[in-house]
Amino acid sequence: MKELHMDRHRRLRSSSNMRALVRETKLTVDDLIYPLFIVEGENIKNEVPSMPNVFQISLDYLTEEIEELTRLGIKSVLLFGIPKLKDPTGTGAYDDAGIVQLAIKHIKEIAPDMLVIADTCLCEYTDHGHCGVIHNNDVDNDASLPLHVKTAVAQAKAGADIIAPSNMMDGFVGAIRRGLDDAGYSHIPIMSYAVKYASSFYGPFRDAADSTPQFGDRKTYQMDPANRIEAIREATSDVNEGADFLIVKPALSYLDIVRDVKNQFNLPLVAYNVSGEYALVKAAAQNGWVDEEALVLEKLTSMKRAGADLIITYFAKDVAKWL
Ligand code: PBG
Repeated sequence: MKELHMDRHRRLRSSSNMRALVRETKLTVDDLIYPLFIVEGENIKNEVPSMPNVFQISLDYLTEEIEELTRLGIKSVLLFGIPKLKDPTGTGAYDDAGIVQLAIKHIKEIAPDMLVIADTCLCEYTDHGHCGVIHNNDVDNDASLPLHVKTAVAQAKAGADIIAPSNMMDGFVGAIRRGLDDAGYSHIPIMSYAVKYASSFYGPFRDAADSTPQFGDRKTYQMDPANRIEAIREATSDVNEGADFLIVKPALSYLDIVRDVKNQFNLPLVAYNVSGEYALVKAAAQNGWVDEEALVLEKLTSMKRAGADLIITYFAKDVAKWL
């Protein structure tokens, strides 16, 4: 009679060191990008109610924030601005004295090596909360592009290391690439929010950034969560227009998309572990229902396993402490 053959998978799981030896995916602090919300005004440090331990801070708190991040080994930040005044065309986004431009300059003065990534969008700066200018009750694509270009150039001029346009207008990467090149910033890379879904997971962010649309929603410019092939079309356009990094957003419910994009394109791929993903874990952890550290490390490792090279996450500081 033939002897029973059994694969002995457990041989490689026998101890912690053995498991470390054969581990396929590793999460490191170098993979992490930490978002910051900079608010115009003085002496402001407001915790975002739906995002425990995430704060809107004014410029005067930025030094201690950057010092803490540096101590933790975090090397890149993604900046969002919350202006005092909003208007229909989002002037604060591209004003040289706009809040993000001031924050970029400040960080570059105190920590020149910190990589500063500027989110390029208008929704925090427009009084209607949409990511462009409105004509006939909808965002006008081609009329919005020049404003996004102006924003990117103002950010580069202030010293941003990477421009990260998140507005989802058609042609935004090409327009911004040309705008940066013409203004003398051909050396500044574009991290494109190439694949961005119209997601319910952005709710807490809109509290943090004060960017909730005042009418309608973002479904005419952000993608339908049901679509997979369309992600490849979106990313293809951005690659052709000159993107240097691709972002998939949100991350956790879209790991199939992360893998698809990873398989199709050879650019550094970024997963955005968005605000709603953060809030869900925090709420459960505060109730004592989950082991936060284990859960977060598992989630972020899964994003890397799916193909992400980098992760934008509000957990960056915690992860830096745990690793
Ligand atoms: C701006 C922008 C949004 C996020 C990043 N950039 C909000 C939105 O599109 O409504 C969401 C980030 C998060 O939820 O953590 N367009």
